[in-house]
Amino acid sequence: MFVIASLFGSFEQSMESARLWIHSLLFFIFIIASLYVLDTLVISNRLTTHYQNIQLKKQPQLPLRFRSDGTFKILQVADMHYGNGMVTRCRDVLESEFNYCSDLNTTHFLRKMIHIERPDLIVFTGDNIFGSSATDAAESLFEVFAPAIESGIPWAAVLGNHDQESTMNREELMSFISLMDYSVSQVFPMDPMEQQPMTNIDGFGNYNLEVRGAPGSYLSNSSILNLYFLDSGDRAIVDGVRTYNWIRESQLSWLRGLSKRFQVLL
Ligand SMILES: *[C@@H]1O[C@H](CO)[C@@H](O)[C@H](O)[C@H]1NC(C)=O
Ligand SMILES: *[C@@H]1O[C@H](CO)[C@@H](O)[C@H](O)[C@H]1NC(C)=O
Repeated sequence: MFVIASLFGSFEQSMESARLWIHSLLFFIFIIASLYVLDTLVISNRLTTHYQNIQLKKQPQLPLRFRSDGTFKILQVADMHYGNGMVTRCRDVLESEFNYCSDLNTTHFLRKMIHIERPDLIVFTGDNIFGSSATDAAESLFEVFAPAIESGIPWAAVLGNHDQESTMNREELMSFISLMDYSVSQVFPMDPMEQQPMTNIDGFGNYNLEVRGAPGSYLSNSSILNLYFLDSGDRAIVDGVRTYNWIRESQLSWLRGLSKRFQVLL
């Protein structure tokens, strides 16, 4: 009787430890399953790159060309002085207009001009963003050039003396601008002999754009208008006097050389 009881006792004990063991196993499986679900539903979605979401720069239709009617229309826009959008008030407006005027009015005006004029090229000639009221240069660049980008029309920009007063220096600004959709801006001009960027030139945003003859014409493969873009810098101190910067000899010598090449080609 005693033997049976003790046998029974140890049987109960081993049942108990088996139950514990099964509980631990189930718990373990539960943890693994939870981690798996967490990983597949939440974490991996955040970590993996979805290739279809990578945006390449949208390229404008090139080369630039005269139209069949012999015209080539450039919309030139300077001094937009864009800050932080809706919260940046207009300057030099009537007191009654002050509360209802912001950077968005500039955007609205630009969009309207592009729509009315349908230019072949849009050229922004500096102070596109206004450093002291733009807290994030990249954000302001996206907003200020948005109407040009939406239009799909090729556009080029150079800098003024205020663009670099926010969070990017002039080189960063020009390389950012050169990578934006439909932009034909460049940081450095191309060396026509070596076919590589001439980085030893003063400034950022020196380049040229060729405009070819009308489609189907005998000049359709020739550059008949060459647009030069030059960086005149921001500010300088000369003999202790604060003044504006200027175009340097290295830039002029590039311009002269290129101009001679075009004359020889004609
Ligand atoms: C700016 O835009 C707003 C909204 O369209 C308009 O009410 C206001 O008159 C504009 N201000 C100026 C000075 O053009
Ligand atoms: C321009 O180049 C294209 C392609 O190379 C050629 O087919 C065409 O005949 C050329 N047109 C002229 C006017 O030279």
